Amino acid sequence: MPENVKRGSFGSKFGVIAATAGSAVGLGNIWRFPYIAGENGGGAFLLLYLGFIILIGLPVMLSELTIGRSTQRNPFGAFRLLRPGQKWFWIGVMGIAAAFMINAFYSVVAGWTLEYLFKAITNQFTGESPESIISQFNDFQNSNWRPLFWTVLFLCISGSVVWAGIEKGIEKYTKILMPVLIVLIVILDIRAITLPGAAEGLRFLFEPDFSKIKASTVLEALGQAFFSLSIGMGTLITYGSYIKKNENLGMSTAAVAIIDTLIAIMAGVAIFPAVFAFGISPASGPDLVFLTLPNIFAQMKGGYIFALFFFTLLTVAALTSTISILEVVVAYFTEELHITRGRATLLASLGIGFLGILSSLSLYHIPELSIVGRNLFGILEFISSNVLLPLGGLLIVIFVAWLFGKTKLKGELSSNGLFKASYFPIFLFIVRYVAPLAIALVLMNSVGLIKF
Ligand code: PFF
Repeated sequence: MPENVKRGSFGSKFGVIAATAGSAVGLGNIWRFPYIAGENGGGAFLLLYLGFIILIGLPVMLSELTIGRSTQRNPFGAFRLLRPGQKWFWIGVMGIAAAFMINAFYSVVAGWTLEYLFKAITNQFTGESPESIISQFNDFQNSNWRPLFWTVLFLCISGSVVWAGIEKGIEKYTKILMPVLIVLIVILDIRAITLPGAAEGLRFLFEPDFSKIKASTVLEALGQAFFSLSIGMGTLITYGSYIKKNENLGMSTAAVAIIDTLIAIMAGVAIFPAVFAFGISPASGPDLVFLTLPNIFAQMKGGYIFALFFFTLLTVAALTSTISILEVVVAYFTEELHITRGRATLLASLGIGFLGILSSLSLYHIPELSIVGRNLFGILEFISSNVLLPLGGLLIVIFVAWLFGKTKLKGELSSNGLFKASYFPIFLFIVRYVAPLAIALVLMNSVGLIKF
């Protein structure tokens, strides 16, 4: 690492968990999980998703944090340090490509969240009918400039936070805001499950119907597990590099995975009862949250305040995730290409903004921006979550299992004997055999190389 690049670090155990959970918890839990689960039949999808979190998500997450903390580098630099002269740094390159793609479509949806925050502030939901909530969304999407305006504004906000430097901002805010977000979702859940018809929504989410599982469902569940945990592209290698040597990586991993999964399920519990109560299709796609939750706010006591809080927190959750994605690119630009932090942030944001604007336009205004029946927005989402992240994760576990060195691995996970890490043998078995095999099978099954 060049002398002039000073690395920050997270100040406390709670800070590590809050920042990592801040990256994991975001639109992926509240916007993406319900809509992908809705498109893929609900309960059976949820079961697959949970299986992948445990068997693949946890080990990949722990592997990434280990690489990051042991090398104190960005993903690209980490692999070059561990295996000089070999091709492993391509994991870092793939991660940067994924970072651009994810941030592009993510900022578009974060822009919608800002519009909805604005609607909440100006009290546009109270007393509205389900039809009017739908037409509000359509009017917004059909506007020539509103979605783009909010996307650009969001990019400016996330750019300025990253510009200012990582540790102070991220750690300070997520420590306060994450717990508030959880309390708010619990309140929404209580309201949702007392809606008429709520049982049907809960059944949809929790009762697995295995006839609904197709090859694409399995891939979607794997992609969502990677996306939601922020793994497979080096984000957690980067965050791992900010974690101090005396932190327990296993504990932090478990805590973050549990928080992340619970929040996704709680978002589902808020949304699916509303889907059935208000006659919305569970397969409404990316629009789902924006069509369902405003109906709950429209009808609940104190809906104005709840909507206000909810969209504020969703914006913040989106922000703490985009920051972590942007940080991957900025850490690479500053440490490897020796560009100043300010320039790196500007350069990355311009590229992401360009791609984001095109993907936003591909949804409603320029449908020609599509390939094989998928618009650019969908293509970016599919390639990043379902291809690049699992592929990155596959290479990362293979690397940690077979090349990192068993003794060094154990030393890192136990902080050189400070913690027990009694899970080590299971972890080693999973990263050596189970996780790589499972990822490879899902990927091969999806491209049709094998058929279950
Ligand atoms: N995990 C984030 C979410 O669920 O919203 C999205 C994300 C962040 C994906 C960071 C990938 C990443 F590296």
